Amino acid sequence: MKILAFESSCDETAVAVVEDGRRVLSDAIASQADMHALYGGVVPEIASRKHVEAIAALTEKALADANCARRDIDAVAVTYAPGLIGAVLVGLSFAKSVAYALGVPLIPVHHVRGHIAANYLAFPELEPPFLALAISGGNTLIVDVRDYTDMHILGATRDDAAGECFDKAARVLGLPYPGGAPLDKLAQGSQGGVYKLPHAAVSGAPLDMSFSGLKTAVVNLAHHAEQVGEELDRAALARDFAQAVSDTLVPRAMEAARQAGRKVLCAAGGVAANSVIRGDLERACAREGCKLYLPPLKLCGDNGAMIGAQGYYEYLAGHTAGMDLNAYATRDIGE
Ligand code: KG4
Repeated sequence: MKILAFESSCDETAVAVVEDGRRVLSDAIASQADMHALYGGVVPEIASRKHVEAIAALTEKALADANCARRDIDAVAVTYAPGLIGAVLVGLSFAKSVAYALGVPLIPVHHVRGHIAANYLAFPELEPPFLALAISGGNTLIVDVRDYTDMHILGATRDDAAGECFDKAARVLGLPYPGGAPLDKLAQGSQGGVYKLPHAAVSGAPLDMSFSGLKTAVVNLAHHAEQVGEELDRAALARDFAQAVSDTLVPRAMEAARQAGRKVLCAAGGVAANSVIRGDLERACAREGCKLYLPPLKLCGDNGAMIGAQGYYEYLAGHTAGMDLNAYATRDIGE
């Protein structure tokens, strides 16, 4: 079954063709990051407008790269939630029109379910149940993936997402948007251990997380150094910051796996590209005898193929939508 898949929830327009949920026939992406970098972050209206400009040509490219004609497409999958609402609406409306014109089923896909499904593309043997640590620019979730479409949140951030926190810390370190990857690179130049940063815990909810205090601490540290004319060890601060995020995420993911009785763990989302977090997950899983799946870097960030992968399993579960399907800025992954 060939699925034409659309993703437009943030600043990447992405269209892919995926066969039977596991084989990527094409994966076309148009990133707007350079445009948003001028403003230091994503400007929602610009994101929507850039999706409007890019999506039709990108669809042609995805079909051509996959060597597919329109009649070869069996279904259309699309991110319907969560995300920047204007941005999601562009992809959703276009995908609906395509499904309508081709007369094929329309499959709604939750964006974070898509991130988790990126692992199916990289690891053919992987099947639920497993525990997923889904960490991206807008979401930070520890999810018990009981089956392909049966998911249960065990832990979540109470405020900022991990990626948002990386982007803000990178900004005060003078790095360009999106800052996660450049901060990661900068951090590799130091062993850290220089700056003491807070590690917040949520009282009564040991698997939940909070990143806003950490974000504020880095901002205050940088501003204070500037005010007193003190030179920051930027690489050390980047390293200590990444470590603080990792120290928040990794022990909770391991504890959640223990509680859920899972011996298989997957990482997902843009922040799963982080080298400190990947290293810590590898060591923790080796210690606890868990099998760890870390998606290749190009499948960590937003892409259309992951929506095609999850779309296939949503279709098998009978989760198709009518032409009245709407977009949502927020939506529980379990719904
Ligand atoms: O998954 P993604 O592409 O988009 C969302 O669904 O949100 O994630 C984007 C986020 C950004 O915050 C970006 O700075 C972060 O992932 N990111 C990283 C790294 N590469 C991307 N964060 C930390 N380390 C990285 N190497």
